[in-house]
Amino acid sequence: MASSAIPLLFIFLSLLPFLPLFAASNVTLGSSLSTTDDNPSWVSPSGDFAFGFRQLNNTNTFLLAIWYAQIPDQTIVWHANTTSPVQTGSNIKLTANGLTLTDRNGLTIWTAQPNTTINFGAMLDTGNSVLSGNSTGVYVWQSFDYPTDTILPTQILPLGGMLYSKLSKTNYTKGRFELHLMNNGSLQLNPVAWPTEYLYNFYYSSGTANSNSSLSGFQLVFSQSADIYILLRNGLTVQLWPDIFPNSNNYYRATLEFDGVFREYACATNSSGNQSWSVVGYIPENICLDLFNAFVGSGACGYNSYCTANGAATSCQCPPGFSLIDPNNEYGGCGPDFPPDCGVDNGTSNAEDLYDMTQVPNVNFPSGDYDILGPYNESQCGQACLQDCNCAVATFNGTFCWKKRLPMSNGRVDTALLLRALQHSVARRDFSEVFLEASEKIKKYHTQHNLANFLFGIPRPDWYQRVQVALGIARGLVYLHEECSTPIIHCDIKPQNILIDELFIPRISDFGLAKSLAFNQTRTHTGIRGTRGYVAPEWFRNVPVTVKVDVYSFGVMLLEIICCRKSVAQEFEDEERAILTDWAYDCLREGTLDALVDGDATAMSDIKTLQRWVMIAIWCIQENPLQRPTMSMVTKMLEGYVEVPIPI
Ligand SMILES: *[C@@H]1O[C@H](CO)[C@@H](O)[C@H](O)[C@H]1NC(C)=O
Ligand SMILES: *[C@@H]1O[C@H](CO)[C@@H](O)[C@H](O)[C@H]1NC(C)=O
Ligand SMILES: *[C@@H]1O[C@H](CO)[C@@H](O)[C@H](O)[C@H]1NC(C)=O
Ligand SMILES: *[C@@H]1O[C@H](CO)[C@@H](O)[C@H](O)[C@H]1NC(C)=O
Ligand SMILES: *[C@@H]1O[C@H](CO)[C@@H](O)[C@H](O)[C@H]1NC(C)=O
Ligand SMILES: *[C@@H]1O[C@H](CO)[C@@H](O)[C@H](O)[C@H]1NC(C)=O
Ligand SMILES: *[C@@H]1O[C@H](CO)[C@@H](O)[C@H](O)[C@H]1NC(C)=O
Ligand SMILES: *[C@@H]1O[C@H](CO)[C@@H](O)[C@H](O)[C@H]1NC(C)=O
Ligand SMILES: *[C@@H]1O[C@H](CO)[C@@H](O)[C@H](O)[C@H]1NC(C)=O
Ligand SMILES: *[C@@H]1O[C@H](CO)[C@@H](O)[C@H](O)[C@H]1NC(C)=O
Ligand SMILES: *[C@@H]1O[C@H](CO)[C@@H](O)[C@H](O)[C@H]1NC(C)=O
Ligand SMILES: *[C@@H]1O[C@H](CO)[C@@H](O)[C@H](O)[C@H]1NC(C)=O
Repeated sequence: MASSAIPLLFIFLSLLPFLPLFAASNVTLGSSLSTTDDNPSWVSPSGDFAFGFRQLNNTNTFLLAIWYAQIPDQTIVWHANTTSPVQTGSNIKLTANGLTLTDRNGLTIWTAQPNTTINFGAMLDTGNSVLSGNSTGVYVWQSFDYPTDTILPTQILPLGGMLYSKLSKTNYTKGRFELHLMNNGSLQLNPVAWPTEYLYNFYYSSGTANSNSSLSGFQLVFSQSADIYILLRNGLTVQLWPDIFPNSNNYYRATLEFDGVFREYACATNSSGNQSWSVVGYIPENICLDLFNAFVGSGACGYNSYCTANGAATSCQCPPGFSLIDPNNEYGGCGPDFPPDCGVDNGTSNAEDLYDMTQVPNVNFPSGDYDILGPYNESQCGQACLQDCNCAVATFNGTFCWKKRLPMSNGRVDTALLLRALQHSVARRDFSEVFLEASEKIKKYHTQHNLANFLFGIPRPDWYQRVQVALGIARGLVYLHEECSTPIIHCDIKPQNILIDELFIPRISDFGLAKSLAFNQTRTHTGIRGTRGYVAPEWFRNVPVTVKVDVYSFGVMLLEIICCRKSVAQEFEDEERAILTDWAYDCLREGTLDALVDGDATAMSDIKTLQRWVMIAIWCIQENPLQRPTMSMVTKMLEGYVEVPIPI
């Protein structure tokens, strides 16, 4: 950390806010702004900053705010701390008493009314909005004294001062982090036990609290030259990050972001530069790691989510089998895609039928163990978790196995951690354990979507996803028919009985009608089974059935996969199209396959496969079971290893 003495004169100057060092456009008593005005703002003389109403995106609500008026994203740097955004029809008025914000019914919802008579107000070029008193001209109220999440050059945070983050990128509600210049002189970042106001222990401290008071912190200063430092009582300074080289063509701001990182940004003031904000300094060094050291809550990303710190940027991700609780809030944590606790596992199913263990490389959820087992090997560790319905995650260190239950907390990518640990003394907390936890296995429920929802939903699934699903089902049937110790005829192959997970891996389900064949048996007499539209014709002829009934059903379903439509569809007016199997045969013969896939561009770009697959489907639905290929032959043809003859 760089330290340097600053001129004593500056300290005295900074103690009292004096009249404009910067040009001001006066706002006269009696002036007012309404949300219904065309441009409800008071602009600073340079045009850099505006004070007034800002409409929130996609809503009819407004913030009373200060923002950069000349850059494309009009970044907000301050807002009035009303309990919620204000409605259309609200009004802000300057009187001798100060500023009064009223709603459309005239009820007061916010005031800036210092205990003295006001002479005029002004929006200064520094971004400070001020009210001036009637005599000495001292500012009796200024927005710089009531910062929200941002400070600007020339702004000072005194002892006891604080910043608080927004809840999310777009939600200005008070969020989950606070920055405090504590009375003992230390600058701290603390997580908040949102939605309460309780502060957890700090995750960053400047270390400038000192019993020798001349060495203790006194102010957080954002200098005119864009340096941010803690001013000690003896006049020395402690910078939060290395000197930046200020450019007079830049705006600078420092914001405690909703992700818990306090960042300084720069942005070009004129449109010939890059007019977006780039980070020039930040604390803490690694929010994913530092936040965990501080407290027992969820971590930087919320529960069941894991955090990656990549320099100044952080991001949050859900592990496999989990998704964002609020799809619009990356930092709001993840929930499981499956029922909680032991709800699905009532002892009637094998755990293996319900769950997989998925390895998530380089991810660590360091807390929340409830059981430790060992010595174990890796597969015993996985099994121990799989068979325990409380267990969501297992961590394995080569000898011992830790079980964790939901919710998981403080998840983060481990590589960042390794880097960090190498850069610092390991004297820090238990890195040794962390080093060993190279990855975690996360229990993952087979999400129960079936092929019908996938195929007949909107938008239609991608051609290559459909190809992948069809191949998966074909291989599954090869297994049932030809690789099981006793062959199984499923008897009810249809999209409703094919489950697919988020990786588009299909599983054949519902064996309620299945028939297993005895050793050497190839055919069986049985009453009619299956679902109309998919059943093979021999079912109606009172003859023994074979695995070829499944081949028939697969053929019908293959056409549905190709076309994304049901085999029998009432909605088609012309009868030609109503029965998919007949129509497909016509389209193939007439060379109008584009009609069959409804012009699907991806499928048409793969026209050779499309044509071959339609031919295979037609072979599968041959009237005579002997003319239908076996499933292993179907698979080889689908994969393109075997030529497909033109069907009869
Ligand atoms: C602002 O108003 C005050 C008081 O009326 C006056 O003294 C000052 O000159 C005005 N400043 C500007 C820039 O108009
Ligand atoms: C807004 O800030 C003022 C001054 O710090 C405080 O007195 C007031 O309670 C705050 N209002 C809300 C709604 O937080
Ligand atoms: C107004 O100022 C006086 C003197 O400084 C103080 O005693 C009084 O409490 C203040 N009133 C309010 C409402 O702040
Ligand atoms: C200035 O304000 C004070 C109260 O703060 C009031 O007593 C005094 O009369 C005011 N003076 C003028 C000239 O308005
Ligand atoms: C509002 O929408 C604009 C344009 O879509 C976008 O650039 C801006 O970032 C949005 N602002 C917020 C606060 O979401
Ligand atoms: C912001 O978040 C709060 C708390 O979750 C919620 O009540 C409010 O509706 C949100 N506001 C917007 C504009 O989304
Ligand atoms: C400074 O005060 C804060 C809050 O009271 C406390 O958490 C912190 O430990 C103190 N720092 C020192 C060095 O005493
Ligand atoms: C406090 O710090 C100052 C400056 O470093 C030093 O001169 C003084 O001796 C210290 N006082 C005590 C009591 O340690
Ligand atoms: C605009 O900004 C660029 C880069 O920041 C600088 O080189 C250029 O001189 C500026 N132009 C004016 C007119 O200020
Ligand atoms: C056990 O769970 C399965 C699958 O969730 C369910 O079908 C079955 O009815 C449950 N049995 C009992 C006894 O709750
Ligand atoms: C794994 O953890 C256990 C318990 O903390 C420890 O005794 C053992 O040495 C660790 N194994 C290795 C390979 O470090
Ligand atoms: C199985 O069938 C083969 C040929 O069809 C026959 O030679 C063999 O004896 C049969 N085995 C049994 C156990 O029926």
